[in-house]
Amino acid sequence: MSILRGKNVLLGISGGIAAYKTPLLVRALVKAGAEVKVVMTPAAEDFVTPLTLSTLSNNPVVAQFTTQKDGEYPEWNNHVDLALWADLMLIAPATSNTLSAMAHARCNNLLLACYLSSNCPVFVAPAMDLDMYAHPANQRNLAQLEAFGHHILPAQEGFLASGLEGKGRMMEPEDILVQVEKTLQKTAPLYGKKVLITAGPTYEAIDPVRFIGNHSSGKMGYALAETAAHKGAEVLLVSGPTALTAKHSNITVIPVVSAQEMYSAVFEVYATVDIAIAAAAVADFSPTQVAAQKIKKTAAIPVIELQPTKDILAQMGEEKNKQYLLGFALETENELENATEKCRRKKLDGIVLNSLNDPHDGFGGDQNKVTFIHAEGDIVHFDLKSKAAVAQDIFDQILR
Ligand code: CTP
Repeated sequence: MSILRGKNVLLGISGGIAAYKTPLLVRALVKAGAEVKVVMTPAAEDFVTPLTLSTLSNNPVVAQFTTQKDGEYPEWNNHVDLALWADLMLIAPATSNTLSAMAHARCNNLLLACYLSSNCPVFVAPAMDLDMYAHPANQRNLAQLEAFGHHILPAQEGFLASGLEGKGRMMEPEDILVQVEKTLQKTAPLYGKKVLITAGPTYEAIDPVRFIGNHSSGKMGYALAETAAHKGAEVLLVSGPTALTAKHSNITVIPVVSAQEMYSAVFEVYATVDIAIAAAAVADFSPTQVAAQKIKKTAAIPVIELQPTKDILAQMGEEKNKQYLLGFALETENELENATEKCRRKKLDGIVLNSLNDPHDGFGGDQNKVTFIHAEGDIVHFDLKSKAAVAQDIFDQILR
């Protein structure tokens, strides 16, 4: 599986003859599983048609600051949104003009506006005639872009459009893909790792229409899944009933309803994963009998006999071989002691403590305030944050 799968790639095309190869680049990126959007300079439109690029990328192509439909006022093509959408920006070909503008923060077209608004990794594939490429001004600009932390995909030797032969050809699309993948793999800390996450509540049936459940929204588990996927992991998300959907294509959702179903789904894959995180609010009890028909209220008030569910996390602790195992604890008293004890009892590598004494915590909200307890004893307290930011903190602790 390509590390580009599920990544948003903003391809910036500037106006050089090598732009004729960019449809192949778009196709290679899409084939690798990336979502591709194209922003062109107006000059690039002379070398490759926006229609070809929009057809291959399956997305509209933009080249101007505004778009105007017949009889309507112009609409702004929001370069900030485009730049923030991108997980990476690839500028290919990058002409002498574009390199210079990038190095000096000039912003006279939409491509440059996107570039200057981006905060994702940037790859630059220069292309120009050999003397132009060798010119100290261009070499200085490339060095400047490298100093900004961008990845330069150096021009290649060969036949040039001018008829000359030498260094200046844009790197071939398939080689660009390989170089981008290699670089991303180096920077994706969970690439090649499998992460299992349980999320959401479980529902324990009483009869065909009623169940015992809880208010867990699943948001923390889903945020962890998105973070792991963005760090390059292949994620298996065993999810109880929630209103959420997983966005990243590295995430496979395995939907379950009851604690028993969650248990079975987890142990079908547990032996194969590298990291397992139990973020689900599993019901502790389930009815011993599930009534075959809806229990009528005309009958005597029913007594529902309960039995404990299997502790999935504790069993993961028992069966642990190579996995890093993380649990959650919800405590109302002696929080640190109880959570630490739970970490030891369930043979975990770490436990995330949610304190119910904190008014910001809780099942439904978008924010969380947690304490990360490492099995070796280190304790790290975090401030109140969005669940996405908490998920980031949690993986920082796992990976430290
Ligand atoms: N867990 C699980 N399977 C269960 C119950 C809990 O996997 N049947 C996991 C949860 O996903 C969570 C951790 O275990 O990671 C919570 O442990 P638990 O013992 O249920 O603690 P609390 O919910 O905090 O409740 P209590 O203190 O009453 O044990």
